[in-house]
Amino acid sequence: MIKNLFLVFCTVGLFVAAIQREQKNNSFSASTQLLADSVDVETGLALDPNFMIVKAQCTGCHSPKLILQHRFTRDEWLSKIRWMQRNHKLWDLGQTEKTVLDYLAKHYAPNQAAYSRREPLRNVKWYKLEE
Ligand code: HEC
Repeated sequence: MIKNLFLVFCTVGLFVAAIQREQKNNSFSASTQLLADSVDVETGLALDPNFMIVKAQCTGCHSPKLILQHRFTRDEWLSKIRWMQRNHKLWDLGQTEKTVLDYLAKHYAPNQAAYSRREPLRNVKWYKLEE
């Protein structure tokens, strides 16, 4: 009798654990979806109408991570492009140069964090710990 009761408890327990796991998995896929809406999953580059042009011009020679790791002003991005053209056989970007610069200045400017974190705390009230 007690043995049977034990078995019933175990079965119910497993069942509840399975449901909880299912719910966890669902929230995980929801957050990946959110990420996929703003960032290209393959390259990690920000998605906007100019993304494809930037992907075509800027990911042929090196990992897009080289872009993601940096924050530059528009002028600094331009000088990086000139530097690659002088030293690393980057081609003339032609009419797409303006588009590429618009995109880089919009998404990878100095004031943009490389990863998201919370805002700094404001109006913090400090107090002395008593000994
Ligand atoms: C023809 C090949 C080529 C293409 C296309 C190219 N790059 Fe580069 N890029 C390089 C090379 C080579 C380096 C140096 C890599 C290293 O140091 O390991 C580099 C380095 C960089 C760096 C790092 C600069 C630094 O100061 O360390 C950034 C940022 C960068 N590229 C951005 C871009 C962007 C934006 C584009 C699109 C306009 C682009 N690259 C297209 C060849 C290229």
